[in-house]
Amino acid sequence: MDIRSTLFLCCLFFLNISLSQDLIIIESSEYAIVLKKDSLKRLQHVYFGSKASNLNEYRSIDKQLRYEVKDAADLPNHVYTPSGTWNTSEPALQILHSDGNPSTELEYKQHIKKNLGDGVSLLTVTLVDPIYKTEVLLFYKVYHEENVFEQWSTIKNNEVQAIELKKYASANLYFRNNDFFLTQYHGAWGSEMQPETHLLTSGIKVLDSKLGTRSNLYAPPNFILSLDGIAKEDTGKVLLASLAWSGNYRFDFEKDRFNNLRLIAGANNFAAEYKLGANQIFETPHFIYTYSEKGKNQASINMQRWSRKYRIHEGEGDRLTLLNNWEATHFNFNEKKIVALIDQAKEIGIDVFLLDDGWFGNKYPRNNDRAGLGDWEVNQNKLPNGLSNLTKKANKRGVKFGIWIEPEMVNPKSELYENHLDWVIRQPNRKEYYYRNQLVLDLSNPEVQNHVFGVFDNLFIENSNISFVKWDANSIIYNAYSEYLARNKLPQSHLYYEYVKGLYKVLERVREKYPKVPIMLCSGGGGRVDYGALQYFTEFWPSDNTNALDRIFMHWEYSHFYPAIAMSSHVTNWNKESSIKFRVDVASIGKLGFDIEIDKLSEEEKEFCKQALLNYKSLQKSIWHGDMYRLQDPYENPIASIQYVNQEKTSSVVFSFLISQRFQTFYSNEPILFKGLDPKKIYEIEEINLFHREITEINQEATYSGEYLMKFGFNPIVTDKRKSVVLKINEITL
Ligand code: GLA
Repeated sequence: MDIRSTLFLCCLFFLNISLSQDLIIIESSEYAIVLKKDSLKRLQHVYFGSKASNLNEYRSIDKQLRYEVKDAADLPNHVYTPSGTWNTSEPALQILHSDGNPSTELEYKQHIKKNLGDGVSLLTVTLVDPIYKTEVLLFYKVYHEENVFEQWSTIKNNEVQAIELKKYASANLYFRNNDFFLTQYHGAWGSEMQPETHLLTSGIKVLDSKLGTRSNLYAPPNFILSLDGIAKEDTGKVLLASLAWSGNYRFDFEKDRFNNLRLIAGANNFAAEYKLGANQIFETPHFIYTYSEKGKNQASINMQRWSRKYRIHEGEGDRLTLLNNWEATHFNFNEKKIVALIDQAKEIGIDVFLLDDGWFGNKYPRNNDRAGLGDWEVNQNKLPNGLSNLTKKANKRGVKFGIWIEPEMVNPKSELYENHLDWVIRQPNRKEYYYRNQLVLDLSNPEVQNHVFGVFDNLFIENSNISFVKWDANSIIYNAYSEYLARNKLPQSHLYYEYVKGLYKVLERVREKYPKVPIMLCSGGGGRVDYGALQYFTEFWPSDNTNALDRIFMHWEYSHFYPAIAMSSHVTNWNKESSIKFRVDVASIGKLGFDIEIDKLSEEEKEFCKQALLNYKSLQKSIWHGDMYRLQDPYENPIASIQYVNQEKTSSVVFSFLISQRFQTFYSNEPILFKGLDPKKIYEIEEINLFHREITEINQEATYSGEYLMKFGFNPIVTDKRKSVVLKINEITL
């Protein structure tokens, strides 16, 4: 395409010039969604796929579709399927109107497209019920270069009295094809992000969560949908999606009578009917997806680039390396032990010491997870000189100081519970059920929001030099009942939605006052990981399971949706049988940190960690800010391999790990094909993170073109003696 037609197309994109009034074209740099109004003013999805080179081509797509055949008014591809009139499929919207009528019709009214700058545009489509005047706005935010789409909707009640929303999706998409495979995730504590891939058959497949606070624990709010058979890393039509919502969600995949797929995504409507007063507006969570016709890896690169640039807090910024004391001490520590750990952090060059759970509670000391949660005063026995003394000692040694909190939750054995029972989510007339011996505070209540904000704020008011916070949330919501909603005569079914909104209000305030503080999102391991919360956090804790072998698999899966800069990866004593090198190398594929007693390491091990930290710092442009390539799948190969390449393609790093030694598979006989390099550039390869006096097996004198490394590959020589190999690839200028 010549420059003039490119410019012309760009103008069409940004200036909202549609070809005809009936047609709405939503385009990113490579893909398009096309909507078209039908004779009954219903807005239909007519196309989802790669862009046409000439906009005129979109004009007649609908002529090829025969959904409105004969008397069949039933449309499978409505952009926001209402219920109670012509629709017999799963609806996106279900409303009980104030007069008791359960039907809704939505007619297209108008659309506007705005250029928001920075490569982002926003299309707003207005649909209105001709009888009840309910107004639905559909929002399509497009991140042009990243090929990422963000969709949500608002519903406005224009009746004189309240209506009840029974279902309120964020997005309703339609895919034409007939070989759909879904990769979904499940898990539990210590085994988060387990994938499962299967063919979607006719009927409805539902993925959902009802845990209230931390869906990622059992069923992460992400999926990969391939439209033409099982997706591969570099081939296949792939939709990779995530609901940006830290509460209950629901995805419906309905294969219809045309063998096409209807997707409805949003907050879970289970026990969550929403009463909307006159003139009130309800906003749904945001549904984020990217599409690629070049396989899963490109889709992940899109998502990771998008999330670094637009979503994760300080996604394009720097990060600090941590030494955490949780695995090293659990609740059992005192000032002396902590100062010793701070010294060890200093010794190997770690940026922050993070004091974990157990530092608070006096009437009910936090010596285990059964008491004290909620009572945020420093425990006098363990830390008689307070936190500021510790921060001072850390700072004096050139180490920053960070701290763990879990402000949304409470142990029944706590002063907070005794004094503010009405702040706790619990059934007033039934037995309490606990998850990890604790209960959740009612964030629908503004007083509780103030309290939770206060827990964070007071830390900083009372201790000037706190540089890092780990925000945990260990419990799911049992006993869902809010005293606050009851008192205010609001339906209990608002609780799940208002909890999340309340949480975001608190986090909004936290970020307004503390924009620069790095905060790790944690939730009893990787229980809460989603793009709703991550806009306030710099990183997340993927799992309490830090067994290096397991982490390779978890990282592999998380990497489909999240960038390495956000994935905290700590070296611990889980799977101590594997060498410190193996554990450090694995932790280096994410955001490297430590959670061990460093003084229990040998001198050689300490020296190795020190050097590995320096190496890691030299690789940040690739690991934190570059693109990630999944080279060899640990599920399918005895050797797993992951690569990062910086944006300029001048530097890269390849991590290879021996996963299995069964059937003599412990030698890498074959080269691994690298990706993402510049075929024309010339590179040299250096093996780093060599342990003590180990001598590399690779030839570091040779040079290779990018084309060579990507076409013929390179053998990292992984063996049972070299179970992890880290190769640094640098461009050389001749
Ligand atoms: C959760 C977290 C851990 C640790 C403990 C403390 O389980 O995932 O990392 O902070 O809480 O109780």
